[in-house]
Amino acid sequence: MKESNSQFEQRKRDHIRIALDPRSQTEGQNGLDSIELIHEALPDLNFKEVDISTSFVFKGEAVSLSSPIFISSMTAGHERGREINEALARLSDRHQIMMGVGSQRRELEDSNAAEEWARVRKQAPKARLLGNIGIAQLIKSPIDKIRRLVDSTQAMALFVHLNPLQEALQPEGTTEFKNGLEAIENLVKMVGVPVIVKEVGCGFSVDTLKRLESTGVHAVDVSGKGGTHWGRVEGYRSKEDELLYKVAQTFSNWGVSTVQSVLNAKEARVSYEIWASGGVRNGLEVGKLCALGASKVGVAKPFLEAALLGDEALEELFKKLELELKITMFCTGSKNLKDLQTKRVMK
Ligand SMILES: Cc1cc2nc3c(=O)[nH]c(=O)nc-3n(C[C@H](O)[C@H](O)[C@H](O)COP(=O)(O)O)c2cc1C
Repeated sequence: MKESNSQFEQRKRDHIRIALDPRSQTEGQNGLDSIELIHEALPDLNFKEVDISTSFVFKGEAVSLSSPIFISSMTAGHERGREINEALARLSDRHQIMMGVGSQRRELEDSNAAEEWARVRKQAPKARLLGNIGIAQLIKSPIDKIRRLVDSTQAMALFVHLNPLQEALQPEGTTEFKNGLEAIENLVKMVGVPVIVKEVGCGFSVDTLKRLESTGVHAVDVSGKGGTHWGRVEGYRSKEDELLYKVAQTFSNWGVSTVQSVLNAKEARVSYEIWASGGVRNGLEVGKLCALGASKVGVAKPFLEAALLGDEALEELFKKLELELKITMFCTGSKNLKDLQTKRVMK
């Protein structure tokens, strides 16, 4: 059944409201509490020298990024989402960090929806945006339509989200995932920007990470369990006596933790970049994930909460994450992110 515009708007509003409900968080399950970095009492550097900058290669050139921290894909295509995206894009512009936009699915059917990005770009011309589309839409869309999503956002890369649990628990869910690997492979060949595959909070197995190796993706953002859980979010959209609510309870802790997913990528010996997200709530956790091998680390829900409060709250959150990461690096004797990746990690 095709979803009407008002049903779509309602679903997006519900997602934001329910994602902010503490019941939707798989708190304490990201695996990061069991990871310890080693404190070095005599780092051979001055705090001021700690450098958290990195880059992203786009069209053969390295685009500078002030930090490995990025704003994970959230929302798009509806009125409330517009203000959120504009605030997030301003932050991305001010600090030269990457920002994933939410699923651009609506633009596939309604090209007017792309106007949102023209407004965003007016306010944030230097924002480092990454487009976003779901695997089920990718499988059935001609490549020209997908290219338009990249053009409308002037994106440096395109995220493809894989979310089988969410789709299975969503009343309007699209569960046709067959031939997904081939669709990703074709996208990599045809789309003209780097492709990054991500989950939405359920992580990745060794096997799936190995299967993605042949597609030529630039990176996989593991987006593991430990933060916003989309099985829970979809479940709470239903009423307590409804089937999907009850089934979602069964799957409320489903998934591979963020830490385990990164370790799985190591075990799979993948040649693409490993990005990490899922329950990342402070800069120490960012540092731990970088030490484990992630080159970029995404944060979603905390940025959403701050965006709803405005620019000042976003600024405060980003500064906190940044300072915590810098302190982590200082106290492990890491001058830059490359150094941090060589540090021993205790599990
Ligand atoms: C309100 C909201 C909407 C989201 N929408 C999308 C989306 O459209 N596409 C996507 O790839 N991920 C989406 N996500 C998932 C996030 O990118 C991320 O993978 C997940 O929330 C785990 O990160 P967190 O624990 O920091 O929230 C959304 C997350 C939130 C909170």
